[in-house]
Parts: sequence; C-alpha cells; structure tokens
Amino acid sequence: MSLDRIRLASLHDKVISAEQAAELIQDGMTIGMSGFTRAGEAKAVPLALVERAKTNPLKISLITGASLGNDLDKQLTEVGALARRMPFQVDNTLRKAINNGQVMFIDQHLSETVEQMRNLTLKRPDIAVIEAVAISEDNFIIPTTSVGNSASFVEFADKLIIEINTSVSTEFEGAHDVYIPESRPNRGPVPLTHVEERIGTKGIKFDPAKVVGIVFNDLPDSPSNVTDPDEETQAIANHLIDFFEKEVAEGRLPKNLGPLQAGIGSIANAVLTGFKHSSFEDLVMYSEVLQDCTFELIDAGKMKFASGCSMTLSPKCGERVFGNLAAYKDKFVLRPQEISNHPELVRRLGIIGINTALEFDIYGNVNSTHVGGTKMMNGIGGSGDFARNAHLAIFVTKSIAKGGDISSVVPMVSHVDHTEHDTDILVTEQGLADLRGLAPRERARVIIDNCVHPDYQAALNDYFDRACAKGGHTPHLLKEAVEWHTNFEEKGKMLP
Ligand code: COA
Repeated sequence: MSLDRIRLASLHDKVISAEQAAELIQDGMTIGMSGFTRAGEAKAVPLALVERAKTNPLKISLITGASLGNDLDKQLTEVGALARRMPFQVDNTLRKAINNGQVMFIDQHLSETVEQMRNLTLKRPDIAVIEAVAISEDNFIIPTTSVGNSASFVEFADKLIIEINTSVSTEFEGAHDVYIPESRPNRGPVPLTHVEERIGTKGIKFDPAKVVGIVFNDLPDSPSNVTDPDEETQAIANHLIDFFEKEVAEGRLPKNLGPLQAGIGSIANAVLTGFKHSSFEDLVMYSEVLQDCTFELIDAGKMKFASGCSMTLSPKCGERVFGNLAAYKDKFVLRPQEISNHPELVRRLGIIGINTALEFDIYGNVNSTHVGGTKMMNGIGGSGDFARNAHLAIFVTKSIAKGGDISSVVPMVSHVDHTEHDTDILVTEQGLADLRGLAPRERARVIIDNCVHPDYQAALNDYFDRACAKGGHTPHLLKEAVEWHTNFEEKGKMLP
C-alpha cells in the first residue's frame, strides 16, 4: 500500500480492504465497473465479491466498458452473482449462462451505454468501482489502461470505490484525455477535428464526498490473446492492402489512408501488421483498442499517432511499452469510449472501420453476434458505432467455418447487426467485394464471384438465379433463405 498515490490527503482515511468494499455491494444493486477488453478493470473488489457470494449469495446488474480480464466474468457467473450484464463480454462460461437464459445480457453499441444513463433510460449505478493509477491533489482519478465508461460511471453513481493498482506505473498520468458531452438540450459539437487533439482533462473529475472506499491491488491486466496470422488471415490482409493501394493510386484515399479503426482479433492484427511493409506513411488510428500491432507500427515509424479507449498488449509488447511510457506518451491517447466510438466523430474524421463478421449474405448484410441466429457469441461491441458512419465500412471473415461445414457467405444471414446499407467492402481469403454504388443484384454478383469458398459457389449461384427469376429488388426465396442454417442445426452441415 502506498499512500503516495492518494495525493488528495483528505481521502487517506478511506482506505479499506477489498473484503470490506465487497460488503458494500448489496443484492439487487447496479454496479458500474471500469474495464474494457481485458484492460483496466477493477480486480480486487470483484474477486472479493466472488468469495463473498459463496457464503452470502447476491445478484447484481454489472455494467462495464466492455469485456473483463482475470476471468472475472467467469468467476462471477459461476457463483451466480450476475443477474444482468452489459454491454459486451467474451467469456465462455458467461456466454453459456446468457444462452441458457440464466443471465440477461443487453448487447449494446459501446458508445451508447452512458448516453442512456445520462438520458435516464438506463438505471444509473448504485456504486462505481474504478481502477486508478492515482488520485490527484486536484480531485482527478487517473485511470489505468482503459478509460471505457469510467468517467460517466463516476459522474452518475451514488457511491464510489476506487481501486489503486500499484502494478501500473504512475507514468501513465498524462496518457488520458477525458471529455464528457453535455446533457441535452445544451449539447454542442464534440470539439475534436484531428485524431491527435486533446479536448478534455487529464483524468476523471470526481466528488470526494461520494468515495466510500479506496482499495489497493497489484494485479496486472490479462495479456492479449491475439494469435499470429495464419494463411487465411494473411490472405485477407493482402487483399485489403492491395485494395488500399489501388484507392491511393486512383486518388480516392490519401497516402496515409485516413484514420483507421480495427476490431480486436487475429484478422485485424494481420491487416495492421501487413501495413509495416506497405507504402503507406504517417498512419493514424482512431479506434477502441490499441493492440500490439499499433505499437509495432509506431516503432516502425509507419504510424504517427493512435487514439483509443484501452490498451490490450501481449506480455512482450507490454514490457516494451509500459516499461518505456515516456517515449510513447506523445504518440497515443486514451479517451472515454463514448468519444473513441462517437458517431459524430467517426463521420467527421472519415474513419476506415475494419471489423470481423461471423457471416454475411449475398446482399451484404452482416451478422457479427449470433451463431445460427440465436446463440450470442460476444456482442456487437463498437462495430456498429463505426460501420454505420465510417468513410469505408469493411467486414472481414474466413469464407468457411467448422472445417468447411459452414459457409460464412449465405443466402440470408440468420441475424442482422449491420445492414446492407452500412457495408461497403467485404473480404474473405478468397477475395474482396467492393459494394460501393451497387444495387442489390449487382452486390450479390460481386460477393458470390469474389468472397465465396469454391465448395459453396455453385449452390449460391443456383439460389441467386432462381431468386432473380422470381423477381424483386432484393430477390429471395423465403422458404429456402435460412435453409442452410437449419440444415446445419439438423444435420451438422449447411449443404448435403
Ligand atoms: N457460423 C458459426 N460459427 C462461426 C461462424 C459462422 N459463420 N464463423 C465463425 N464461427 C466460429 C468459429 O468457428 C470460432 O469458433 P470456436 O471459438 O469454437 O473456434 C468462433 O466463431 C470465432 O471465430 P474466429 O474465426 O476465431 O473469429 P474471431 O475470433 O476473429 O471472432 C467474431 C469473430 C465475429 C466473433 C468477433 O470479431 C466479434 O465478436 N465481433 C463482434 C464485435 C466487434 O466487431 N468488435 C469490434 C469492434 S472494436
């Protein structure tokens, strides 16, 4: 424990144990917790809550920025402590509890959660539990590796528990830019016109009277689990890089492409890593999560600035970046997710959004969330915040799944997250479909010709030809449209 990190001396007597803090959380409460993609989540208090729930059961509604690390969602689910969870998760145990109806999961655009709290359409937290590097003498909580929804949780919660993480360097101070939009009707434009701009404060302004406990932890974030590119993800990356090169050559994109957003995962990682050996220069990112590839591009002199709302790094990259923060500090910034994903800014900055689909259909509708149309995978995350307003909305996926029993390109998606009106470019390892300016029948032709695995091409052509013969602006054979999915459900294969 180091009281040096609580520079507002009047709060020194608020230090309590994690167990005492967990006792403050009551059955039925709504808890707003820091944490975004395994970065910067409160750790000691939820772990103590798990222990407490074993002998003194309770159920809470847990709202975070996005997914949590350190198996917190798993452990909270196993002790039955989650009644409701939002707005995103990636945990296998929680996923099962969501899909069997045990936990009510609200799958939301990540920019929207705190806006709904501001509008009083979503219950505000009874208690916010926020991880911090330090508390400044002038009433700021300095967040750790994510800002997420923390700033608004601090504003809206009745009570506040702060977890000081002594494993995170105090050098982190200065890495954040916290701006919160005004309530309506006094809302003005978000005053950000360049990715590098700072428009807010160094930390989260808070009311010391709300603080009911300060807890110390020294637990690191869970490391990133992004895998290296494989043959297919590398092929997807190559198609995209060729496409960008052509766009630059033909004058439709600047030499630095414009601000990039990339969803977390192996494909995004492969694409961004591929930029290292490309001709693009002075790249900038305006994204949610800053990953290893962001810092590799910065180190290679290819990327000049990255804006995100969290940092999720592998142990090796983490050691380099966190051990050398002073050298990187003028090259990145962490903002609230409401700002990193703000539709107004996505449109203004002209962002290129690259996100992963589970499946897409012949007209370009994308399913990112529901396996077989019913089972929640992770959630929509920020993909919708970006896709609808992006300068270029790109979705990538491998053309087949489950050893080839599933085609990721289908006649009609079994669930829609991004409509055909939102999607510009679709890419699989087979090729790239540029849908810009095309009508539905033209889109189908381009998608079938470029993105579909050869094993499924004849069947999709047959479906499309028969649908066109029947007519319609967006031709379909409704009785057959989701038959590929029902085939998989019943026979374990989309096609005989
Ligand atoms: N039907 C059924 N299952 C499918 C499938 C399909 N069409 N396509 C893929 N899958 C399965 C894979 O087999 C794999 O299953 P496994 O975990 O049992 O091995 C799983 O889905 C994940 O697929 P993978 O190819 O490894 O992709 P990924 O890890 O890159 O995840 C998403 C893909 C879509 C699940 C993930 O990107 C996501 O949650 N996206 C939505 C949120 C988002 O876009 N966030 C970014 C904004 S920042």
